[in-house]
Formats: sequence, structure tokens, C-alpha cells
Amino acid sequence: VGTLLAERGIDANPVIITNPVINRLYGDALQQSLQGDGSGVTVLQVPDGEEYKSLETAGRLYGELTAVHAERQTPILALGGGVISDLAGFVAATYLRGVPLVHLPTTLLAQVDSSIGGKVAVNHGQLKNKIGAFYQPRLVICDTTTLKTLPSGQLDDGLAEVIKSAVIRDKELFAFVEEHLGAIRALEEPAIEEVVFRTAEIKARVVEEDEKELGLRAILNYGHTVGHAIESVTDFKVGHGAAVAMGMVAAARIAQAMDIMDTQELARLQEVIHRAGLPSEIPPIDRHRIIEAMTHDKKVTGGRIRFVLPRSIGDVIITSEVSPSLINKVLGS
Ligand SMILES: NC(=O)c1ccc[n+]([C@@H]2O[C@H](COP(=O)([O-])OP(=O)(O)OC[C@H]3O[C@@H](n4cnc5c(N)ncnc54)[C@H](O)[C@@H]3O)[C@@H](O)[C@H]2O)c1
Ligand SMILES: [Zn+2]
Repeated sequence: VGTLLAERGIDANPVIITNPVINRLYGDALQQSLQGDGSGVTVLQVPDGEEYKSLETAGRLYGELTAVHAERQTPILALGGGVISDLAGFVAATYLRGVPLVHLPTTLLAQVDSSIGGKVAVNHGQLKNKIGAFYQPRLVICDTTTLKTLPSGQLDDGLAEVIKSAVIRDKELFAFVEEHLGAIRALEEPAIEEVVFRTAEIKARVVEEDEKELGLRAILNYGHTVGHAIESVTDFKVGHGAAVAMGMVAAARIAQAMDIMDTQELARLQEVIHRAGLPSEIPPIDRHRIIEAMTHDKKVTGGRIRFVLPRSIGDVIITSEVSPSLINKVLGS
């Protein structure tokens, strides 16, 4: 990290924002990489957990940054998963109207998704991720060896986003995942590094073309229309990766029923999701509640739910032309 910051002319006296779990695992190594004795480096810790991705925590961090005399050029290094990248990114975007931000993501989800694309945010009451900004990091450094200490099950959310990215933009990546899924799940090099790099690259390319989500960027929501609804109806008992996996299969079934996608491609998708240890069938919850939740989602235009539908692996379309009866049929009753 120290070398990469120096190469880009980023100030060598950063503030690291992290949590105690991650600091215990990687704090020392990071500080050593920044400079031998760690002088000039400040570590600010926030408790572990989504509930701390809040304005209160951000407010506390502003106070701590002021206390250590952090200036306009002082970089913030976000060391952690998506909670830390969103929170530290939000603080970096707003403190002194913006200080340099470097992401050091330590979960698969953060490496392939939350640290890429510049969406930074905190939650506020019922408004999840709604208080935020578009603020691009100066640098994102993914060390895939950090994934080895993740609690079990913590790879699922990231894996679902990897499969999503391949389906929307990159059939070669999909084929790579099909071939090397065992090695990827075992975090073997070079498979895991290849997957992280290529998935991050897909998101970066999409965002480069449409940073503020006026059009194309919406394809990143593939699987998320149904997925978000399942999460909300189940009070988040179904995890994000699992919900997105179910959503990807549901959208592909809709595409297949509309003759947009052929059956073989749907079968390949289901097979990979299954081998990734992710579910494809929605649990027995009231379908009307799922449809209602989708209708209340922010992505609805003119009463019609907007779907990202695969045409084939590697190619998707965005459409509001899915009939309510087909949605009902695919989701089952
Ligand atoms: N900004 C975006 O574009 C974007 C995209 C997707 C998700 N998100 C956000 O990301 C968040 C979820 O991120 P997440 O899934 O990474 O969860 P997380 O940040 O809560 O991390 C999961 C758990 O793993 C621990 N952990 C992190 N790295 C570790 C490591 N290497 N070894 C051991 N433990 C480790 C964390 O302390 C935490 O307990 C949500 O708040 C979501 O809204 C943002
Ligand atoms: Zn997602």
C-alpha cells in the first residue's frame, strides 16, 4: 500500500478508518507498509456492524479528524468490508468538501462491488444508503489473501455479484467461473485474483460510461429487482447474495418466457448458481408481497416494474414491458 500511494503522489500520513475485527487482523501489516514505525498514521475505529453506517458515526469521525488536524490533502484509507467502504467513503466525500479516498476492501463483496463505482452512503432511519454522494476513490487496492479470514458464508454475497457481472457483460468471465468455480471458492490463486480483477473491471467500465445512473449503470441491478423485494419481505433474513441469486434466476425465467433468452442459457445460469452454493428457488413467502415490494421500489417507472433481462450470458436489456401476469406466473403463487 505504501509503495502504491507513493507512486500516485498520495500523502504518506493517512487516516485509516476501520473496525476492531479488521484492525486486529490487518492493521499492523498496513501500518508497516505505510512506514516503519507508523508515526504520522492515525487509526480511527468504528464498531463492527451495519447499524454503525450512520450519520452519528460520521459525525463522530468528523470530530476525530478535526482533533488529529486532518487536512485537505490527508488521505482516508478505508480498510474493511462494504460497511467501512460506504461509511469512510461518505466521510471522505464530505469532510472539508472532500479529501483523497483510497479503498482497501477486505470482503469479496467490497472488492468486486462496493469499493468500485463511487457510490458512498450512510443509512438514515428507513432510508438505507440514501444519504450519500458519488465520490470516486483515488485508488482501490484488493489483496485477495485477506479473504482467507472471512467468516464462512461471507463469500456468498460477493460470488452472486461476480455471477451477475459476468451475465450482464462478459461471457468469457462466465465461462471462467464455470471452469474454475472450485478454485475460486477455495480462494486459490490465480483464480480468485483473476475473478476479482475482472469483476471490478466490468463495474468500473459500466460506471465510466454512466457514473450517475442515467441509463446503462442500471444493468448492475440485474437480479436486484426481485432480490431487493425478497430481502425486504423477509426482513433481511435472506442474505443479499442469496436474494440476488433468486432474482437472477427469476429474471432469466421471465426472459426465457418472453423468448428473449434460450433455455440452454437459463440452464447454464442455474447450474453455476447451484454450484456456487447459492439458492435459485424463492422460499415459500407470499408472492403478492414480493410483487408489492417491487412496485414500491425506486426503480419503478409509470407503475411498471423495470427489469434487467438477459438476452444471453454476457448481454442484457432493460425493459418495463414485462406483463404483470407473466411476473405472477414466474414467481408462482
Ligand atoms: N457502495 C456500493 O456500491 C455498495 C454495493 C454493494 C454493497 N454495499 C454495502 O456494503 C455493505 C455490506 O458489505 P460487506 O458484505 O462487505 O459487509 P461488512 O462490511 O459488514 O463485512 C462483513 C463482516 O466481515 C468482517 N470482515 C471484513 N473483512 C474481513 C476479513 N478479511 N476477515 C475477517 N472478517 C472480515 C466485518 O468486520 C463484518 O463483520 C452494506 O452496507 C451494503 O449497503 C455498497
Ligand atoms: Zn448487490
